[in-house]
Amino acid sequence: MDATVSTGKSLVKVWSPYIRLFHWLLVLCVAVAWLSSGEIMKVHELAGYSAGILIASRLIAGLLGSRYARFRQFVRGPGAVTEYLADVAHRRERRYLGHNPAGGAMVLALLCCVAGIALTGWMQTTDAYWGVAWVEDTHKILGNGILVLIGLHVGGVLLASLRHHENLVRAMVTGRKRAPSRDDIA
Ligand code: HEM
Ligand code: HEM
Repeated sequence: MDATVSTGKSLVKVWSPYIRLFHWLLVLCVAVAWLSSGEIMKVHELAGYSAGILIASRLIAGLLGSRYARFRQFVRGPGAVTEYLADVAHRRERRYLGHNPAGGAMVLALLCCVAGIALTGWMQTTDAYWGVAWVEDTHKILGNGILVLIGLHVGGVLLASLRHHENLVRAMVTGRKRAPSRDDIA
């Protein structure tokens, strides 16, 4: 059993302080960047670059960070994701202490989307790509398309919270979740 899982206690540490700070700062930066787009460009660029830096730090944590931060812990293939979604449809999905397979796929999608937005945003400030239509279009499509991902992400979080009778949003604040039972995947 992993060191972070302490038996005899009802709550165990799952999300490190870094992951929690990363998550809520990313939410803030993406929200500010989106709301300021086409309006206050200094604020837009500052928030957008900050989001990009957060993603870069998350890539390092995904390789070297704590147990539940590591990509190896939660990134699954398409087969495992489909199987998990079929289990959800049949109301028989197991509880995961870290990200479940569908949640893990969504985490990757969100990270890639923010990275793509920040990259195409920065490209628009360079001589080589300034005014290039595909760069502007990609930035707009990803910048607005991320709202769909966020909607699905929050929907998935709420669904999993209801199904497993635990407040996952609070867990992303406190870092703690209910200790795993025998049927759960730790
Ligand atoms: C701009 C909007 C958002 C983005 C870009 C975003 C991104 C992410 C990312 C990247 C993770 C993975 C955390 C990690 O392992 O590093 C995550 C997890 C999580 N997010 Fe968000 N998030 C957003 C909005 C929200 C909101 C509004 C909520 C609350 C309703 C929320 C609740 C959560 C929770 C509970 C988890 C953990 C999921 C789990 O238990 O597997 N997120 N989010
Ligand atoms: C998470 C980060 C970001 C998000 C969510 C985001 C989102 C958006 C959105 C939604 C638009 C408006 C598209 C439209 O007209 O429908 C936009 C425009 C733009 N963004 Fe970003 N962006 C981000 C980061 C950046 C960065 C880092 C830069 C550059 C430093 C940047 C530069 C621009 C520019 C130059 C425009 C065009 C403004 C205009 O035509 O008025 N963005 N962005």
